[in-house]
Amino acid sequence: MSLIVLASASGSPGVTTTALGLALVWHRPVVLVDADPVGGCALLAGYFQGTVADDDAMVNLVLAHRDGRLAEVLPRTMIPVPDTYVSILPGPKSHAQAGSLSELWGALAYELRGLEQTGQDVIVDAGRLGMVHSPQALIRAADLALLVSRTDLPALAAARQWADDWSTATVDGTGAASVASLLVGVGRPYAASEVSKVLGVPVLESLAWDPKSARVFSEGQKPAGSTWSQRDQLVRSYRAAAAAISARVTAERLTTAQGGVR
Ligand SMILES: Nc1ncnc2c1ncn2[C@@H]1O[C@H](COP(=O)(O)OP(=O)(O)OP(=O)(O)O)[C@@H](O)[C@H]1O
Ligand SMILES: [Mg+2]
Repeated sequence: MSLIVLASASGSPGVTTTALGLALVWHRPVVLVDADPVGGCALLAGYFQGTVADDDAMVNLVLAHRDGRLAEVLPRTMIPVPDTYVSILPGPKSHAQAGSLSELWGALAYELRGLEQTGQDVIVDAGRLGMVHSPQALIRAADLALLVSRTDLPALAAARQWADDWSTATVDGTGAASVASLLVGVGRPYAASEVSKVLGVPVLESLAWDPKSARVFSEGQKPAGSTWSQRDQLVRSYRAAAAAISARVTAERLTTAQGGVR
């Protein structure tokens, strides 16, 4: 396992919520990277309600990169989440700051991939695609790029173009090793089989549709107990998605190792 990137084509289908949900149920240590060029670090403002912050994390990484010290500074910049396997790499504090990160993403992708040797996987929230400062280098370096989408027609019309672009890049060796979609709100209105036909990429998993539970992860709303429950349907769907991601990456690597064509 290694570098997994989640992104969306339009709307706000649930990239940040899903990336966090996956990280919280991940089976081994994982770094959750906020690389959304919109800035503002929705993850820290939402689930963590502003109790965790480092506005200068990305700027410090840019400076470290210029000094050739990125590998040394990166681990210190990650914030461990107590009682979990998760560490967070806070994203740009503003879209203006995101503009100064273009030189960082490639080097960061290299370092993040190297974390696999320390037993850590990486999940990246790349935000909405097509933004001027999108972290393209992270998407290109991914073992698996996941297009998060709702299933209504406007969402699918937007997602289809990116699914095409990503698939082409994968085939010609300039994109992620593997591409799939993650659906939020399957059956609202279209089924997974219909979506995969339209997008031309497989649906890796459909997450449970549960606005109330999702707000626990997206806004830090307190659930009925003091914390979210492993039995919650949405959490179970995060676990299923995490397992599907692992299986997909393992299968892809096996194919590559056996000389399969990317
Ligand atoms: N599985 C789900 N079921 C129902 N609602 C969900 C689900 N996942 C996320 N949501 C809701 O969708 C909304 C958008 O979520 P989120 O902020 O994660 O989207 P995003 O794609 O990261 O958006 P943006 O492009 O603005 O960063 C939130 O209100 C969140 O609670
Ligand atoms: Mg988001």
